[in-house]
Amino acid sequence: MIFDTHAHYDSGSFHADRDEVLSSLPAAGVALVVNPGCDVESSRQAVALAEQHPHVYAAVGIHPGDCDDCTEEDIAAIRTLAAHAKVVAIGEIGLDYYWKDNAPKEFQQDIFRRQLALAEELDLPVIVHDREAHGDTLAVVKEFPHVRGVFHCFSGSPEMAEELIKMGWYLGFDGPITYKNARRSPEVVAVTPLDRIVIETDAPYLTPEPFRGKRNESTKLSYVVEKLAEWKGVSPAEMEEITLQNGRRLFGLED
Ligand code: NI
Repeated sequence: MIFDTHAHYDSGSFHADRDEVLSSLPAAGVALVVNPGCDVESSRQAVALAEQHPHVYAAVGIHPGDCDDCTEEDIAAIRTLAAHAKVVAIGEIGLDYYWKDNAPKEFQQDIFRRQLALAEELDLPVIVHDREAHGDTLAVVKEFPHVRGVFHCFSGSPEMAEELIKMGWYLGFDGPITYKNARRSPEVVAVTPLDRIVIETDAPYLTPEPFRGKRNESTKLSYVVEKLAEWKGVSPAEMEEITLQNGRRLFGLED
């Protein structure tokens, strides 16, 4: 059974068939889903989806791409939402220097630090988004040595992967590892122990080959599982089971 540790089913892309898609997952081999929020409203929606579906859990947080108007009240709202029984992490939080119209770097770092502090206070893992901000993201998480979690859709170097693994972090792998230009992914996966790998769709985005460009859904993770299994020399069934157990351990969902 598959554990999709990162999917945005609150996205407008699922407006027409959200409940249908989510309800069909267990019978299609998807045991668990974590739906991270990107701002207060989508975090609320993530919690609502988790209330409606037993196999869905929520993470709550403010995404670096959505943090430009973040206020003290927003952080307080995230703190309140985090108390919900089906909230398993603070996320998705981090730094995104790719989009030029995102908030200034210093402001992103401030919002990131506040949410790492919240995770530390509430003893929750974090889901970290790091796009074109590897050095600063690593430096900021090192300021919080008691906070652990996952680097979502990991895009750093094998050296950075090794450093995070030593510190106790998990690495998330998504559809792009199936793309032809994914040159660095095999090297990163090679240095990542089996017990630190989790799989993510980032649905509706990052759809794996051969469906690249179409809407992503948790069932399509089988293509990511196949690629990881091939690189790690295990069977796809073993890789599914290993990543399921890793996700359970990461988010405190052990049987
Ligand atoms: Ni995401």
